Amino acid sequence: MNTNRKDFLIATALAAAAPMIARSAPSRGKIRVGIIGLGMRGKGAVKRLSKIRDVEIVALCDLRGEMVAKAAKILADAGRPAAKTFSGNEEIWKELVALDLDLVYIATPWRWHTPMCVHAMQNGKHAATEVPASTSTEECWQLVETSEKTGKHCMMLENCCYDFFELQTLNMVRQGVFGELTHAEGAYIHTLCGLISKENGYQGMWRFHQNNTKNGNLYPTHGLGPIAQCLNINRGNRFKHLVSMSSQQAAFTAWATENNKPNMASLENYRGDMNTTLIKCARGQTVMVQHDVSTPRPYSRIHLLQGTKGMARKYPEPRIALGHKWQTAEQMKELEEKYRHPLSRTMGEVARKVGGHGGMDFIMDYRLIYCLKNGLPLDQDVYDAAAWSSIMPLSIESVAKDSERIMVPDFTRGQWKTNTPLGIVDVDPAKLPVIGM
Ligand SMILES: NC(=O)c1ccc[n+]([C@@H]2O[C@H](COP(=O)([O-])OP(=O)(O)OC[C@H]3O[C@@H](n4cnc5c(N)ncnc54)[C@H](O)[C@@H]3O)[C@@H](O)[C@H]2O)c1
Repeated sequence: MNTNRKDFLIATALAAAAPMIARSAPSRGKIRVGIIGLGMRGKGAVKRLSKIRDVEIVALCDLRGEMVAKAAKILADAGRPAAKTFSGNEEIWKELVALDLDLVYIATPWRWHTPMCVHAMQNGKHAATEVPASTSTEECWQLVETSEKTGKHCMMLENCCYDFFELQTLNMVRQGVFGELTHAEGAYIHTLCGLISKENGYQGMWRFHQNNTKNGNLYPTHGLGPIAQCLNINRGNRFKHLVSMSSQQAAFTAWATENNKPNMASLENYRGDMNTTLIKCARGQTVMVQHDVSTPRPYSRIHLLQGTKGMARKYPEPRIALGHKWQTAEQMKELEEKYRHPLSRTMGEVARKVGGHGGMDFIMDYRLIYCLKNGLPLDQDVYDAAAWSSIMPLSIESVAKDSERIMVPDFTRGQWKTNTPLGIVDVDPAKLPVIGM
């Protein structure tokens, strides 16, 4: 193909595939939702979404009929009309996607996230998926390209961006309290041995199999999402490259031996217990992300932000230092009052009552529906889903190459330079009432 023709085809394709950043969805009456995957997470979503008046849960789908029945009961107990139900095989969700829906909400195991999002967008629906949105860079590009082509949103449901301290520190970053950010740390340190190794934990033990076949930072987005928003990733900044290394595996074997699970005690392929990934940003900052689901350590997402004037760190308990002095308990209260994020102010009390990780899940769902209903751009767009999720496959590649440097693709294709940072957003609860509060 000659160069002119190639350039023409690229230009035509780009013109047809308009960027998704800041593009808003048309607002309409009720937001009609279909939910796929009704295990631990999906059932919680049914409970939360059924609290929002302008949501209609039209359809429920799970491989297993008993999970659909439990979710249908949650809906009935909430006084909501019955939904259409689908179960029985791994492809039946396509019948749900074919219905008249606005949004397909996905809470299945990882390997289904991208295929389900892509199919939903191709069939004219917005897609929202549990984390991670993708498990390979090819899948990340599929999400971006499909969203651009169809004009449909694809949001990764990164609930940790809506936790209270994360929201407060984002607000403080925006107001310059920490000065210019230079470094950040996040993590997923969460002992899951008991949960991933029993049949009545994860369906088909899918999460165990992921951990047993991949060596890298398998679940980066909980730690990374809130940090990425503070660092304006894809909006004036971007992840440039990373290096990653994993420790040896010892804690899962120790746990399996102690808990008499001999078939799990010799896990040659099981990834190392602790993975540490370092990411370099285009604007200079460094980010450390850790992943460990087998060491018996207290839960932590770290959430550390460091700037020229101060720092914040969430675990083991939220602390802030200004200058080089840790703030006292009283000063921490004053900072909380002064910098409480507007979403916590307007939604916090209701969200805590509805629940879901202390309230953050409900703030996330509410804000998603609010944006769709009011035609606003989403807080987390398809480029965020791709960039944050890509850290899993890229870290796996780095670990496999003895910690070689791996470049992070620019999923925005240069738009990051001109995109504006996520604002300090809010909701008007009068516009979208919550039921039964
Ligand atoms: N955001 C968070 O805080 C958080 C917490 C836990 C899990 N997660 C994520 O949520 C997702 C679901 O996790 P979970 O804990 O609910 O797992 P789970 O195993 O309890 O639930 C998954 C459900 O999907 C169903 N399923 C599997 N294949 C299907 C298919 N082809 N079609 C329809 N249904 C199918 C299973 O039957 C199961 O009920 C995962 O991606 C996980 O990483 C997120």
